[in-house]
Amino acid sequence: MVSYKELGLVNTREMFRKAMEGKYAIAAFNFNNMEQMQAIIQASVECQSPVILQVSSGARKYANQTLLRYMAQGAVEYAKELGCAIPITLHLDHGDTFELCKSCVDMGFSSVMIDGSHHSYDENVELTRRVVEYAHKYDVTVEGELGVLAGVEDEVSAEHHTYTRPEEVEDFVSKTGVDSLAISIGTSHGANKFRPEQCTRNEEGILVPPPLRFDILEEIEKRIPGFPIVLHGSSSVPQDKVAIINKYGGALKDAIGIPEDQLRRAAASSVCKINIDSDGRLAMTAAIREVMATKPAEFDPRKYLGPARDSLKELYKHKLINVLGSAGKAL
Ligand code: G3H
Ligand code: 13P
Ligand code: ZN
Repeated sequence: MVSYKELGLVNTREMFRKAMEGKYAIAAFNFNNMEQMQAIIQASVECQSPVILQVSSGARKYANQTLLRYMAQGAVEYAKELGCAIPITLHLDHGDTFELCKSCVDMGFSSVMIDGSHHSYDENVELTRRVVEYAHKYDVTVEGELGVLAGVEDEVSAEHHTYTRPEEVEDFVSKTGVDSLAISIGTSHGANKFRPEQCTRNEEGILVPPPLRFDILEEIEKRIPGFPIVLHGSSSVPQDKVAIINKYGGALKDAIGIPEDQLRRAAASSVCKINIDSDGRLAMTAAIREVMATKPAEFDPRKYLGPARDSLKELYKHKLINVLGSAGKAL
């Protein structure tokens, strides 16, 4: 058993309290390798932003849980070395079983998500409650989820109950004791969040996706005022990165994300955590493809992973400053 406190990490409680008060959101960036971790920490230190290092179960398998724990501990020391001891959370993304969440708590994670959103309501309550009971013994915070994020193949419609049902949130939060709640209001995972026919075109001919369901968010806020809300699937899918990928041999079709103005509006509400993974993948892939295509004689991984890291860092800084509004909030 390793406590996250020994590693210098923090849980999300204080971070979310301040984010709620200050009307901004904390970035949760997924990572599974060193360059991503370096980019996250460099960007967050330069912006003086608190940050959540987020690990999916797939990432945990890919990178090895022990290495990840030492990387997170390394991140804490690295931030200090770079000149700002920003608050850093190590968070399990989309935990799907009690055992996985317990293992992360035992391995030094300071926050876990139990995603019971694919279960029945009662099963979700029971599973989430069990995780909270265990995690809270060690002062580890827990994120639950209500509502299913739409995939691009799904019909994004309330009739299919993919959106969070505001009438359930009060009961869920009080029965489970969760510290934050992920909701479904029109975001989804990956780089293809909407089909082109779901979008309209603005004057410049750019596809504009349907707006997020702020009416549902507001209804939720009325029922659980001041309670931290989480938005998954919040990549914006920058079209310049998509264009570079496709220019250098990629084949991304109909890649559409959540417009940044929608996320800025969410960050100023009770949304305290915004999850971004796909945009980082796009930034890395674009940079790597460009080096591979324009410098075919290079075979030192640092020559393409270095530019990928720099591009990621710029992307993260942009998110922290211009989208989430968390710059300067670490102090
Ligand atoms: O929500 C999913 C995250 O983007 C993690 O994705 O399971 O491929 O690591 P992954
Ligand atoms: P994106 O795929 O939109 O980056 O969402 C990531 C996410 O929600 C991780 O949990
Ligand atoms: Zn997610």
